[in-house]
Amino acid sequence: MKNLLSMEHLTTEEINQILDLAQAFENGETSSLSRRYNVANLFFEPSTRTKTSFEMAEYKIGCNIIPFDAGFSSVTKGETMYDTVKTLEMIGIDAVVIRASEDEYYNDLLEGLHVAVINAGDGAGQHPSQSLLDLYTIKKEFGYFEGLTVTIVGDISHSRVAKSNATALQNLGANVHFLCPEEWSGGFEAHHSWDNLIEISDVIMLLRVQHERHKENCSFSKESYHQKFGLTIERERQMKDSAIIMHPAPVNRDVEIASELVECERSRIFEQVRNGVYTRMAIMETILKGRE
Ligand code: CP
Repeated sequence: MKNLLSMEHLTTEEINQILDLAQAFENGETSSLSRRYNVANLFFEPSTRTKTSFEMAEYKIGCNIIPFDAGFSSVTKGETMYDTVKTLEMIGIDAVVIRASEDEYYNDLLEGLHVAVINAGDGAGQHPSQSLLDLYTIKKEFGYFEGLTVTIVGDISHSRVAKSNATALQNLGANVHFLCPEEWSGGFEAHHSWDNLIEISDVIMLLRVQHERHKENCSFSKESYHQKFGLTIERERQMKDSAIIMHPAPVNRDVEIASELVECERSRIFEQVRNGVYTRMAIMETILKGRE
């Protein structure tokens, strides 16, 4: 695996290898890379979890993390993504982790570069490292994917997490349902009311309402979204005993989920963040190992 760009490029075997390596790292295994690789994290969109989690993962597998401040880079003077990454490669960077607002920005980086590219989110496209950490969280919980019912709820059309997870979960044998307002279906066949989804789901995966990506104002208030599509206290009570709640975060409390449920017993929201470090260690180790 030279790059990690989209879940659509990964085979189920590659996914399982990364999940197994994440588990090994969580169990205490250390990196077997032959040298200290130089990596840079290029975040052209805001991030708390993904950027810090990649930095921690890179540190834990012994990488040199070369600081890159997107807001003070020459991209602000009009330098292209290709020229930016080529420049970093010439300086000695082995791998770049990139988040950018343009869908499939990475297509400009596929030729002429030797540096590895890890997609940390492209516009409303894909978020493969989030998907892999979500899969790791589900596998730790249930031990398998085949036959699990996963309901993905919310802003499907703008969500790179929904797209990445839908592909991966379906390929791994899970039954995936989507629930969202009609105008947010994004081409997916979706439910527009909860119906019996609460009772049948093993995983309720909530998505952030991405106010910053909505060109028009929403046709409903935060309160009405919460009542119609949110995970309310009443709905949580109807979940299966074994079912879990997930959310990639950041969370809009009392919009996608009642604030009291964010850290309830069946919530894995902060556990996902913890799992992200092991998963990103596995991603970076796999990609850098491929260069040895
Ligand atoms: N889940 C996620 O991508 O969070 P950040 O935007 O904080 O990185």
